[in-house]
This record gives sequence, C-alpha cells and structure tokens, in this order.
Amino acid sequence: MNRSEGTATPARRWLGAALALAIAAAIVGALIVWRPSGLYAWLKALHVIAVISWMAGMLYLPRLFVYHCETEAGSRQSETFKVMERRLLTVIINPAMVATWALGLWLVWDAGLLGARWLQAKFVLVLALSAVHGFFVRCVRDFGADQNRRSQKFYRLINEVPTALMIGIVILAVVKPF
Ligand code: HEM
Repeated sequence: MNRSEGTATPARRWLGAALALAIAAAIVGALIVWRPSGLYAWLKALHVIAVISWMAGMLYLPRLFVYHCETEAGSRQSETFKVMERRLLTVIINPAMVATWALGLWLVWDAGLLGARWLQAKFVLVLALSAVHGFFVRCVRDFGADQNRRSQKFYRLINEVPTALMIGIVILAVVKPF
C-alpha cells in the first residue's frame, strides 16, 4: 500500500468529509436565499461537469477490471490495480455521482420539470446507470479481497453498458424527443 494512504487517520478523514459537507451546505443555502440571476445556467454547467467526471470513471473502471483479471492474486500488479480501482471509485466516481444527482434534482425542482416525458425516461436510464455503479462497487470489493469469480469476457461486455446508457441519456437530455 502507498504510504500516503495510511497517513490520514479515520477521525481526520471524517473531519475532512464533515467540513466539506458543511461548506457545500453553506454554499447551497446561500444560493437558495440569494437566487442570483443566471443561477440555472450555472447549475446546469456544474451538472454537466459532474456528469463528465462520473462518466469518465464509469468508462475507465471496467477497463481496469479487464486488465486486473489477467494478474495473479497477491502479485504486485494486482495490488497496484486494487489501489487504482479503490481510489478511482472513492475520489472520483462516488463524489461525481452524488454531485450529478444533487445538481440534476435541483435543476428539476428549479425548472418544475417533473412532468416532462423526456425527463421521466432519462430518470429510468439514470437509475440503471446508478445500479451499474452499485455493481462496480461490489466488483471493487471482490477484487480487493482477491475474491473475483467473473471472467475477463464478462468485464469486456459490462464495459459497454455505461456507454450505451450514456448515449441514451444525453440524447434525451439534449434532443428532448418527447
Ligand atoms: C442523476 C440524475 C439526473 C437528473 C435529475 C438530471 C436532470 C437534468 C435537468 C433537469 C437538466 C436541465 C435540462 C434543461 O434545462 O433543458 C439536465 C441537463 C443535462 N443533463 Fe442531466 N440529469 C441527471 C443525470 C444526468 C446524466 C447521468 C447525464 C449524462 C450521462 C446527464 C446529462 C445531461 C446533459 C448533457 C444536460 C444538458 C442538456 C442541455 O442543456 O441541452 N444528466 N439534467
């Protein structure tokens, strides 16, 4: 394990997370009270940035699983993949998913879009994407415990699912066909 990973104690990590949450809550509260003009466009820009980060991780993580399958449990390469997968998940994918959902729901509420058909269809695809995310969390845990039982072929196939869902979601969000 990398040395820098072990330096922060659990208490410090919790403190850092609590501080980040408090700052985020303060910014959200200030924006709700202040409601500056152009807020919707800013929220949408942040939403798209969060989406790009989430998707970058969701497209890269299954590629790591494909390469991880080729390594021997306990080998140096395997241990390196474990660190890469865990960090990608906890530092990028998980926070980006939370930000995407939070900002997306804020946009829905702000624009009163709940009745829009394209949004309801988008919801279904985003829920499917979130379920795939949950499955990837399980895969990272399995690899982390040297308990992976799935084949490389399986990961090559599942690798295509986030791409297919992303194409559908973006078309619904931008074209709004119904
Ligand atoms: C997590 C739940 C999500 C919700 C509740 C949500 C909701 C929304 C809303 C309300 C808008 C503004 C639409 C408008 O003003 O025209 C929007 C924009 C957008 N969303 Fe999402 N979204 C979510 C996730 C995603 C995901 C996962 C993607 C892509 C993979 C995505 C891609 C986009 C794009 C590209 C836009 C910009 C559309 C445009 O301005 O033309 N969203 N989203």
